[in-house]
Amino acid sequence: MQIILLGKPGAGKGTQAERLAQEAQVAHIATGDMFRAAVRDGTELGKLAQSYMERGALVPDDVTIGLMRERLAQEDAGKGFVLDGFPRNEPQAQALQGLLQELGRPIQAAVELEVPDEEILRRITGRRVCPQCGATYHVEFQPPKVPGICDRCGHELTQREDEKEETVRKRLEVYRQHATELARFYEARGVYHRLSGLGSEEEVLVRIRHLLQTLGVWAQ
Ligand code: AP5
Ligand code: MG
Repeated sequence: MQIILLGKPGAGKGTQAERLAQEAQVAHIATGDMFRAAVRDGTELGKLAQSYMERGALVPDDVTIGLMRERLAQEDAGKGFVLDGFPRNEPQAQALQGLLQELGRPIQAAVELEVPDEEILRRITGRRVCPQCGATYHVEFQPPKVPGICDRCGHELTQREDEKEETVRKRLEVYRQHATELARFYEARGVYHRLSGLGSEEEVLVRIRHLLQTLGVWAQ
């Protein structure tokens, strides 16, 4: 299975990609998570990425594409993947086509999760993440068992650094600049689909799973 989840910041890409990848036993590949890990580790890549992320801007394409080339070459990606947060513009989508051609694994579906801005802001302001293992929670919709503590690894939960309202607004603007070109790119290849991202996490998951089964992308 090779699919892409598209959508605004806070649309639920990470939440759904993690569940889908686990169920289908494929890799969950999220450029945002990879950049945040590099920032945490204090690497050169992290320092560079941070200067863009804290402004809500895109990390330059050559850096992002290079990172993706390395990630797709890893063994687990050979079994398939759910991409989350990549590609984000047409040059990245073009580069991805080239990388996948080398691997002989074309994109089967690019699924856009649609969520209105008011709901996006509610989701993002309530999001809590585990800086240790990357698990995502929401204070209202998906609270951890013990407030402020990660269910999975016991680390204290934090908020992401790019969640200030001004930065979120900038991220939404960047998303809008590229949403149409990405939709057109995948529409032209017959793999673009739009689904409502509203409802519970479970409801959205059922919707995506149903679409993938209808398309014959997912056999389960
Ligand atoms: P990235 O990490 O990709 O962030 P994003 O696209 O802004 O998306 P988010 O992670 O904020 O949202 P999501 O859709 O994953 O939602 P989630 O599931 O967490 O990118 C961050 C930055 O990195 C970029 O700004 C850029 O600088 C850089 N970057 C990354 N990729 C790049 C690329 N390819 N090129 C260049 N730069 C790149 O859900 C949000 C919250 O809502 C959670 O709390 C969740 O629990 C909750 N929630 C989820 N689903 C539901 C539901 N159904 N009902 C209620 N609550 C829900
Ligand atoms: Mg995410």
